[in-house]
This record gives sequence, C-alpha cells and structure tokens, in this order.
Amino acid sequence: MSSIPPPVAMIRKVVNDPSLSAQQKWDTLWTTKTTPWDRNTHSPALEELLQDKKFPLPHPGRPLRALVPGCGRGYDVVLLASLTGDGGNSRVMQRVVGLDVSPTAVEEARTRFEREIGEGGNIVFLMGDFFADDEEWAKMGPYDVVYDYTVFTPFAPLPLFVSLSPRFFVLPS
Ligand SMILES: C[S@@+](CC[C@H](N)C(=O)[O-])C[C@H]1O[C@@H](n2cnc3c(N)ncnc32)[C@H](O)[C@@H]1O
Repeated sequence: MSSIPPPVAMIRKVVNDPSLSAQQKWDTLWTTKTTPWDRNTHSPALEELLQDKKFPLPHPGRPLRALVPGCGRGYDVVLLASLTGDGGNSRVMQRVVGLDVSPTAVEEARTRFEREIGEGGNIVFLMGDFFADDEEWAKMGPYDVVYDYTVFTPFAPLPLFVSLSPRFFVLPS
C-alpha cells in the first residue's frame, strides 16, 4: 500500500477544514512551510517563453505593466522585472506587481527581494485577492501582461481574464 507524502496529507487536511477561509487555507500552507510547488527559482516555462522563444511582448518600445497573480515568493515577478530592451539599456517593465492572498508569502517575497524593490526598483508585492476587483492591485493597472503559473489554470483562465478585462487589462487589438 502506498503511503501519502506528508505535504499531500497536510494540504488535504487544510483544504478540507471547513473552519478556514480560502485565504486562511493558503496562509496556513505558507506558515507551515507546506509549499511543495516552490522550486526556489522562477518557472522554467517563463524563462523559455521570454528568452528562448522570444515571446513577443505587446506594445514594443512602450514601458509595460505586468501582473503575476498568486506570485508566491515572487521569482517570476523578478524575472519579468529584469527584462531589458534596447541592447540592455532600458527596462522593458515599468512595473511588475506580484499579488498573493497569503500575507506570509508576500512578506517572504518582500524580504527575499528587498534589493530589487528598493529605491528605483520596478517591483511591487501586494497582498490581495485576484477575485476582488476593488483592491490596490487592480488600481495599479491596467496590465499589458498577466503571467499565471500553477494558480488559476484550473479555472479556465481565458474566460476569467476576458471577464476581468478591459477594466484591468489591455487587450490585444
Ligand atoms: C500553487 S502556489 C504557486 C505560487 C507561484 N506561482 C509559484 O509557482 O511558485 C499558488 C499561490 O497562489 C496564491 N493564491 C491562491 N488564491 C489566490 C487569490 N485568489 N489571489 C491571489 N493569490 C492567490 C497562494 O497563496 C499561493 O501562493
């Protein structure tokens, strides 16, 4: 008989606890360090898209705004924010907002990447809910780029993003 790995057992316990809100569930996973998805680096898929496949970003030459919902420790935020254009002379991203519903995740992201956020940095980490449209993250849009990795994919992302636009997102014409 196969035994259940401890992180899976913990996730099941937290997810099935009716006394916890969705935010409390995610934060409990962060505070108990039950974060098996965290690879301590950005997603290889994003790196491949941006660097190898040279994914065409919208509005070339214009400073862009990006949102990473469910950013966790913020590795993908930092990768996006570090993109340069013009032969390495200019930043592609005017601002990259990392959003997470867990205060612990946001705190860890801020601590980890304090230097990049600091003076002159183009990164903001915010605590908030992607399904709430009246929060600080929404006011900081509209966003040209939204990058989701292992967060909202189960919720059929395209209809979701389209339903949120055009208030928050610049849609390709
Ligand atoms: C599976 S983890 C992925 C984290 C990160 N994208 C990564 O790959 O390392 C999902 C993250 O989404 C956050 N999250 C879940 N629901 C959210 C919501 N409604 N709004 C913002 N963040 C959310 C969780 O706190 C968690 O950090």
